[in-house]
Amino acid sequence: MPGRVPLPSSHPAAMAGRRRRRSWPLVAALSTGLLVGSAAAPAAATDDRPDRGGGHHRGQASTTVEPFGTAPDGTPVERWTLRNGDMTVRVLTYGGVIQTLEVPDAHGQVENVVLGFPDVAGYASDADPYFGSLIGRYGNRIAGGEFELDGERYQLPLNDGPNTLHGGPEGFDDRVWTATPVGDRRTAALQLQLVSPDGDQGFPGTLTTTVTYSVDRQERLTVHYEASTDAPTVVNLTQHTYWNLGGEGSGTIYDHELEIDADAYTPVDETLIPTGEIAPVEGTPFDFRDPTAIGARIRVADQQLLYGQGYDHNWVLNRDDDGAREGSDGEDELEEAAELHDPESGRTLTVSTTEPGLQFYSGNFLDGTLVGTGGSVYRQSDGLALETQHFPDSPNQPGFPSTELRPGEVYESTTVFELDN
Ligand code: BGC
Repeated sequence: MPGRVPLPSSHPAAMAGRRRRRSWPLVAALSTGLLVGSAAAPAAATDDRPDRGGGHHRGQASTTVEPFGTAPDGTPVERWTLRNGDMTVRVLTYGGVIQTLEVPDAHGQVENVVLGFPDVAGYASDADPYFGSLIGRYGNRIAGGEFELDGERYQLPLNDGPNTLHGGPEGFDDRVWTATPVGDRRTAALQLQLVSPDGDQGFPGTLTTTVTYSVDRQERLTVHYEASTDAPTVVNLTQHTYWNLGGEGSGTIYDHELEIDADAYTPVDETLIPTGEIAPVEGTPFDFRDPTAIGARIRVADQQLLYGQGYDHNWVLNRDDDGAREGSDGEDELEEAAELHDPESGRTLTVSTTEPGLQFYSGNFLDGTLVGTGGSVYRQSDGLALETQHFPDSPNQPGFPSTELRPGEVYESTTVFELDN
């Protein structure tokens, strides 16, 4: 919108359109006991009582577990069910995958709104497009799979043409995480932990990562990440859920309306590596400052859309803070980044994050060769990902916010996915 001026941080309505932008101290969004490292509430909430009426789960929050087959190396995989209020989320210890996420639509119809596979084999296959997975150590691409840190050069294995994508061929999405329930009566929550040894996928330092998923009664799924290292390294963790608010397997997301609170994005080259430019979205198909149907401009003859075969870019979020990592001093702020609305079902997803960037990927490489949880074939744009992150290829881009992590520092990041109907 011409002449639009970013609202001052004190202004309550920085997101144009239907909803107010919210920003609140991180600690307020997390229930007591969910912060990793706090002494509170380590006990499991194992209440799995039957639903109380209408398919809605108005009872206590519950966090329950069942066996779910094995990883290719024979390691047993668990499936955890986090249930609270009207939301049910199924999480696999394989890849920390969010396999299903069920919420009602505007008419009370409960459906799964994320793409996924019915079994571990799907997620372990090379054809898995990271459905629902935790991504590490480095979300998105590192050019040539190489970077320099403190004068040392590191070469990572390549798995995306000339580049390294999503942490390399054996990223965190292909590991079995250790799960500990950490919920209480009010919150269903699961803590996942993974220790990645020094040199894993070429990255320096032993990286200990903890991710906590929590589901509250307001239909919010909070993803909280923490990591620490014993040697200087780079880290960029994210979550790769593919959303379809009309229901998994219901067709494309072209009619979904998307709003991204970003005045700029990072254009890419033909291998989807950022050029380093921070470009204004004004006057381009990348301007989502007002809610716009995804299909409205996806076929515009734009070089960037051609490179991505659709949207596959990092938006530079408008933030009240500078987006730099504050570590464990508690000053990171959750700020509303994007809103996705499906007019047909009436469902709305609001994404808030402490991260400076958002990768909006319109499912361009889904090609009709995968069968999902509901038994239907996924075709191009049958789901979309909204990946909160630091910018792609930051280790090679001095102008981007740093992704370095050093011994003694704590990497912290939080993203909240809120569903409304
Ligand atoms: C990337 C895409 C990639 C997809 C994996 C996204 O995060 O930006 O380029 O194809 O993940 O399926």
